[in-house]
Amino acid sequence: MARILDGTDPRAIDTAAAALRAGEVVAFPTETVYGLGADALNERAVAQVFAIKNRPQFDPLIVHLPDKEVVPQYAATIDGRAAALMERFWPGPLTLVLRKRPIIPDLVTAGLDTVALRVPAHPVALALLRAVGRPIAAPSANPFGYVSPTTAAHVRDLLGDAIRLILDGGPCMVGVESTVCALTNEEAVVLRPGGVTVEEIEAVIGPVRIASTSQPDAHSPGTLPRHYSPHVPLTLLAPGEDIPRPRQGERVGILLLKPRPEVEGYTLVAVLSRDGDLTEAAANLFAVLRRLDSLGLEGVIVESVPERGLGRAIMDRLRRAAVRD
Ligand code: TXA
Ligand code: MG
Repeated sequence: MARILDGTDPRAIDTAAAALRAGEVVAFPTETVYGLGADALNERAVAQVFAIKNRPQFDPLIVHLPDKEVVPQYAATIDGRAAALMERFWPGPLTLVLRKRPIIPDLVTAGLDTVALRVPAHPVALALLRAVGRPIAAPSANPFGYVSPTTAAHVRDLLGDAIRLILDGGPCMVGVESTVCALTNEEAVVLRPGGVTVEEIEAVIGPVRIASTSQPDAHSPGTLPRHYSPHVPLTLLAPGEDIPRPRQGERVGILLLKPRPEVEGYTLVAVLSRDGDLTEAAANLFAVLRRLDSLGLEGVIVESVPERGLGRAIMDRLRRAAVRD
């Protein structure tokens, strides 16, 4: 069973850094979700990440860096848009897809000639990245397709038997993954909405295209329709759709953005935010989905949230969580 070490203890950082340099896999906190990290330049270590997650090798990993100064070692081109976005949002929940240098192994990028880079805004992640002195490839620390972990305990529950070390950095403040933005063409494309909003990106570089989830893009293999899914079936209501009333004896839950006194008859009413705040809702989303999944419910009705700001990332995760096989 994995050991959980306090990430604020410098000895824990040293232990984790030594393990990573030795080619081991270590789970660590970021501001978005917990990551399952490996030395990005060590193909054997990266292969373990895919194996532990049961992740298909066509889905490339994000490479985490301690600061933007090292980017030229891994990215072949850094244009004005990339420089401006790094300046404005790093450290933070924005991942930039840029042309890669050959030093990044093909396994990390699933054979693409691009690499996804990000500097996370979490003191434990940054301390670890500085101590390792190597880029860390890290997907979210969950089995492929399942809800991402936002606490060290979630990681232990999901992957505790498969890894040795989890750094604890408390609950993740952002709660949804980073925004993935590709800058490999003239048109900037948001491949995955996330912690930095589309509106914030557009304020820096102008209009961007948002890739559609219903038509997975050949160059954004991670935008699979079904993902982030609890086992309990979710039914996502359309915006403004009336909330149904469960039948007598039905064990159904409901997930609301904010409390609604009129909602009745549900076995469990879960609320993302007391006052409908999208930032708070994003931070709570995955923990609430996990809780709903642990109750043996027959299904969960999910209210839509407004599709602006962080609501876009929340709706992206909810839509994919609601896709059935
Ligand atoms: O917030 C996050 O981004 C978290 C933390 C741990 O940093 N990481 C994370 O990784 O969410 P993961 O592996 O669950 O998602 C990575 C996403 C996938 O959608 C993947 O397809 C995309 O990034 N991606 C990675 N490299 C890419 C590339 N070269 N081109 C296009 N998409 C890429
Ligand atoms: Mg993931």
